[in-house]
Formats: sequence, C-alpha cells, structure tokens
Amino acid sequence: MKTILITGGAGFIGSHVVRRMVNRYPNFNFVNFDKLTYAGNLETLADVETKSNYTFVKGDICNVEDINDVFSTYKITDVIHLAAESHVDRSISGPMEFVLSNVVGTVNLMNVCKAHWTDLSNHIFYHISTDEVYGSLGQEGLFEETTAYDPRSPYSASKASSDHFVRAYHHTYGLNIRISNCSNNYGSHQFPEKLIPLMIHNAVEGKDLPIYGDGLNVRDWLWVEDHASAIDLIFHEGRNGETYNIGGLNEWTNIDLVKRLATIIDQRLGRAEGETAKQIKFIKDRAGHDRRYAIDASKLEAELNWKPSITFEEGLDKTVDWYLNNQQWVKNVVSGEYQTYYENQYKS
Ligand code: NAD
Ligand code: DAU
Repeated sequence: MKTILITGGAGFIGSHVVRRMVNRYPNFNFVNFDKLTYAGNLETLADVETKSNYTFVKGDICNVEDINDVFSTYKITDVIHLAAESHVDRSISGPMEFVLSNVVGTVNLMNVCKAHWTDLSNHIFYHISTDEVYGSLGQEGLFEETTAYDPRSPYSASKASSDHFVRAYHHTYGLNIRISNCSNNYGSHQFPEKLIPLMIHNAVEGKDLPIYGDGLNVRDWLWVEDHASAIDLIFHEGRNGETYNIGGLNEWTNIDLVKRLATIIDQRLGRAEGETAKQIKFIKDRAGHDRRYAIDASKLEAELNWKPSITFEEGLDKTVDWYLNNQQWVKNVVSGEYQTYYENQYKS
C-alpha cells in the first residue's frame, strides 16, 4: 500500500493536488504535511477532511524531527513536495525565509527519505518547481527543459537551488526523482497577495488596482486544476530523473489581464462598462522584475499526452465567480498578517 506525503497541501496548488489525488486514488493513503504559514489554510480542504485515505499533520520541513516523525508514524512510501515560500515580493523584503523553507527544507526532506527508504530507486520524490528558475525572456522564445538556469529573484534563486539539490540527490544517491517547472497558476483558493486574486479583491473593495512598472511584463497563465492534472500524470507516468515543463501557451501582459478582469467584474457586479478599470493605478516597479515568462510544454504533451483542459476565458470567469461567491474565505485569509504586509508593500 502506498502512503504518499504531500508537503504544502494546505496551500493554493497543494490543496488542488490533495483534493484530486485523494478522490482519484482511494487505494492510496495521503498525508498532507504543512506548517500552516500565512499561506496555508485548512478551511480550503474541509471537503476532503473526512475521507478515510486522508490525514493532515502540522509540521515544518525545516524541522528534521517533524519530518522523521511523520515518516515513522505513517511509513511514507513517496513524496510530492510543494511546501515552499512562494511569493516573489516577500522574497525581496525577506529572503532568508526562502532559503530556509525552500532550500534547507527540501534537503531535510530528502535526507529523511534517505534515512527511511532502504532502496531509494523504489520510491518517488517529486519536486514541484517553477519556470522562474530559467530567468527572463525577451520578446521571442520559450523556456525549454534544457534552458540554462538564470534565477533573478531571491525566490527563484531558492527554487533553482532546491532543483539542483534534487538532481544532485538523484545522481549521487540514486534517489528516484521527478521535477516539474510550471508557469503562473490561477484559480480558486489562491492567496490574495498574487496578481489575479489581489485584483479581484481590490476591485470589489473599491481599492486601487496596483500595476507594477509599465504593466507590460508578460506571464503565461495556467488553470490550477490543469497543473494538478499534470502533477498527477508526472507522478504516475513520468520517468525517473526527468524534468517536465508545464505551461498554458497563454501569454498575457499584466495590464491586458487586469483590464480583462475589470470587464468581467463590471459585468458581474452590474457596474457601468469601464467603471472598474478606473481603479487601475501604475505604481513603482518590482525590484528586478522579470519581463517575460513563457513555457514550451511539448515534452509533457508528447510523452504523457497532457493538455490544458479549459481556455483562459473560461478559467478567468470561473475564478472571478469563485472569489465573488467565497468572500468570507477571502475575508478570513486576509484578516491577519496580510494587513501589515499589504500596508508595507503598497505604501506610496
Ligand atoms: P502557497 O504559498 O499558496 O502555499 C505554500 C504552502 O506551503 C502553504 O500551505 C504553507 O503553509 C506551506 N509551507 C511553507 N513553508 C513550509 C514549511 N517550512 N514546512 C511545511 N509547510 C510549509 O504556494 P503555491 O502557490 O501553492 O505553490 C506551491 C508550490 O508550487 C511551491 O513550491 C511553488 O514554488 C510552486 N509553484 C507555484 C506556482 C504558482 O503560480 N503559484 C507556479 C509554479 C510553481
Ligand atoms: O511563474 C511561476 C511563478 O508565478 C511562481 O513560481 C510563483 O510562486 C508565483 O507567485 C508567480 O510569480 P509572479 O511573480 O509571476 O506572480 P505574481 O502574482 O506575484 O505577479 C504576476 C505579475 O503581476 C508580475 O509581473 C508582477 C505583477 N504584479 C503583481 C502584483 C502582486 C503587479 O503588477 N501588481 C501586483 O500587485
């Protein structure tokens, strides 16, 4: 019987992965191991809490004892590792948390795997990573799996470092690994510090819609459920030692995306056309702001037959509707530490 440890399962992407895996694989056990930082929220997983193949354990990947305990108690057979500090702006104001959770935490986790697993080739360690490790693109080109690493923010440097450690454990100790590098996710339950939910929340509240710099930075957006389906495939059918890029072939400048969101919100809230867009405000640029990310996901498509399941238009509509229908969830997650973060990040 497999017992799969999902780290960071109370976060945005992790909760979608947990929900998908617990429901699709009733014969596997899943242990969600999460520190419950400001970004982790169990309310998000209320619908899977009662499933007999699901357990939550509060723990920190920076604490080796916490990880050892969960491996001993649950006889963990495989790991899907999502736990991380994930927000670029926070990495700029406080990089050390990113070094600790993203780099040291990942190495701790693999050391515990080594200590508990007698044959490292019999277990899977799947590391979830980001396209930001590849740096920033000009007008042309896509990130491929072979693109040289060129991380430029403390966040991406920490993820690049953890990717290198995971590959090093594969080559040095024979750990059976997979790594995937994904573009920007969007969908329900994303913490409202990230672009799309922040704009929806601020639009509803009548606050500024703060665009960094000239608004022409480009991101490649992927529906979070499509990221979860790719993770599911790569975990089950991906090859040992391989890296897979995941992306939506769906590039948007930030300003066009925010205008599109403003239009949807006008329609949903019965506002006059163009009303919400008046809240847009250009503010000081993010330090070291990467200009363009875009992913070539053809390896994943060719090898594992993966494709995004919905269009961006459908996904954005669903996302706006989810936030409008779940304003209590938003109020709960922004009620604590986020207030102070927001004041500091957006003070003029
Ligand atoms: P998130 O910030 O929403 O959630 C992170 C989760 O990890 C939270 O539940 C938090 O409590 C937990 N966590 C943080 N530090 C921990 C620690 N020391 N020990 C245990 N748990 C800890 O992040 P997300 O957006 O869901 O991202 C999940 C993973 O996917 C990250 O590794 C991130 O780098 C990667 N990723 C994110 C995106 C994106 O667009 N959000 C895209 C590509 C890759
Ligand atoms: O590319 C994958 C990465 O995408 C993930 O690895 C990260 O975990 C995730 O946070 C995300 O990083 P970004 O920095 O691209 O996402 P964010 O939502 O913070 O910003 C998206 C774009 O919007 C970026 O160009 C900065 C801009 N932005 C963001 C915020 C929060 C604004 O213009 N205004 C804002 O207030």
